[in-house]
Amino acid sequence: MELAPPWKAPWFLGFGFFFAVGWFLFGWVWPAPSPRQPLRYNHAVHIANGMGCVDCHAGGRDQERATLPGLDTCLMCHQEAVTESSEEEKIRAFAAAGREIPWAQATRVPRHVYFSHRRHVALGGLECVDCHGAMETRTEPPRYPVGPTTMDACLDCHEQRKVDNDCNRCHR
Ligand code: HEC
Ligand code: HEC
Ligand code: HEC
Ligand code: HEC
Ligand code: HEC
Repeated sequence: MELAPPWKAPWFLGFGFFFAVGWFLFGWVWPAPSPRQPLRYNHAVHIANGMGCVDCHAGGRDQERATLPGLDTCLMCHQEAVTESSEEEKIRAFAAAGREIPWAQATRVPRHVYFSHRRHVALGGLECVDCHGAMETRTEPPRYPVGPTTMDACLDCHEQRKVDNDCNRCHR
């Protein structure tokens, strides 16, 4: 009997079919990554150009929410093209359309949890990197949370630093 080349073998088609179904169900739908950002923002080039974290995340040090930057922040430097990037061009397209850039927030805790940047950064003396890792090396938007979003992650650090883990400190 002659062996069929692999791409003709039924098992190969079956494998291909179920691999595609599995990829669709588990690789794409199940881990539910945040939606892609409207623009491929690059942290690394901006930090390399001397910008600081709170230049764009104004509340990161002394407010509850760090916040994501509005279009006006980007336009301070991108009113005119500074690169040949088509991603950069999108900034002015949003401006021309009179729309904000609809950033999607990947790192978040549920509404029943109270978290304050001020408490941790201004009062607690922590740095952004302690929770968010090396954002200054990222050349693309993260698609998964980049920080402590599980209860264990909060409790672990609090234990290490002798912070009270009473339930109602976080669940108000
Ligand atoms: C203080 C000035 C400044 C601000 C504010 C600023 N940028 Fe930039 N941006 C730059 C400079 C300088 C470069 C060019 C970097 C290089 O080529 O070395 C750049 C490059 C870019 C590029 C193309 C480079 C790449 O690799 O993708 C994009 C896209 C971009 N910026 C998006 C943004 C967005 C979105 C905002 C607002 C959230 C923003 N920038 C705010 C200075 C700024
Ligand atoms: C020029 C503006 C700019 C600067 C400077 C900047 N960021 Fe950002 N940052 C953004 C934008 C725009 C987004 C949303 C797009 C993305 O996720 O890349 C973002 C996203 C983030 C997120 C993810 C939020 C989420 O969706 O989970 C974190 C965390 C963050 N930045 C931390 C930092 C830290 C730490 C620094 C300093 C090392 C910094 N950023 C500097 C503009 C900036
Ligand atoms: C103790 C850990 C911790 C530190 C330190 C910290 N963050 Fe966060 N960050 C978080 C958590 C948790 C969230 C999700 C908060 C939520 O859902 O409201 C978050 C959310 C964010 C977001 C998403 C947008 C928003 O408004 O919440 C940005 C941007 C961000 N942080 C930037 C920063 C920057 C910049 C610094 C340093 C100045 C910083 N963070 C320091 C834990 C931290
Ligand atoms: C990297 C360490 C670290 C992580 C991660 C962390 N915390 Fe904290 N947290 C601290 C420190 C340090 C303090 C004490 C700040 C001070 O001195 O005021 C604190 C204080 C607090 C307080 C005030 C406690 C009180 O006594 O009232 C709350 C609420 C809180 N954190 C919530 C959270 C939540 C929610 C998370 C997870 C989403 C989290 N923290 C993750 C280090 C951390
Ligand atoms: C330092 C902050 C912190 C403290 C202290 C804390 N929690 Fe939580 N808790 C969280 C965070 C953050 C989440 C959200 C986890 C997620 O979405 O995965 C959460 C989620 C929960 C949930 C929802 C379950 C789920 O999987 O979403 C319950 C129930 C809960 N906590 C009970 C408690 C109880 C009981 C205590 C006291 C023994 C406690 N928590 C103390 C931060 C805290």
